[in-house]
Amino acid sequence: MGTDELCTEDEVARLVHAFYARVRQDEVLGPIFDARITDWDHHLAKLVDFWSAILRRTARFSGAPMPKHAALPGLSPELFERWLGLFEATLAEQPNRAMAEQAGQAARRIAQSLWFSYQMSRDPQALPTVVSHV
Ligand code: HEM
Repeated sequence: MGTDELCTEDEVARLVHAFYARVRQDEVLGPIFDARITDWDHHLAKLVDFWSAILRRTARFSGAPMPKHAALPGLSPELFERWLGLFEATLAEQPNRAMAEQAGQAARRIAQSLWFSYQMSRDPQALPTVVSHV
């Protein structure tokens, strides 16, 4: 790892794999993912690209998170908080603390914007709510 790099590709992959292992075991979030994701290897590779783009500026991710989440029924601030709770628990286990800090900030920011866009796509007239503890 160069001295100017926040983290290695291996560190990103370990973070992503550990997080989705937790997600899949979660009694609330697990079934939501299992209902949509048929190919977990593909999803994990895509999410490694996503986090590598954020943490290593590799610009490899080419997806569309907004419409994908907008299509999920029943998202709520509580679900985003639960997602963030599992993400924070995974970050707490990562030896690279600088990476953990950056990833946590990005996740909170993105969770908030996904929740805003979700509300706008569902009920643009309503006053938007926020994901708390963010
Ligand atoms: C309530 C919280 C969340 C739930 C239940 C959730 C669920 C899901 C599901 C089921 C998919 C697969 C969609 C599909 O392929 O049709 C997905 C994709 C994805 N999620 Fe989430 N998610 C949540 C929050 C987040 C957050 C906070 C982030 C980022 C920090 C994130 C990043 C992504 C990305 C990058 C994809 C891939 C999008 C694409 O294929 O273009 N998700 N999510």
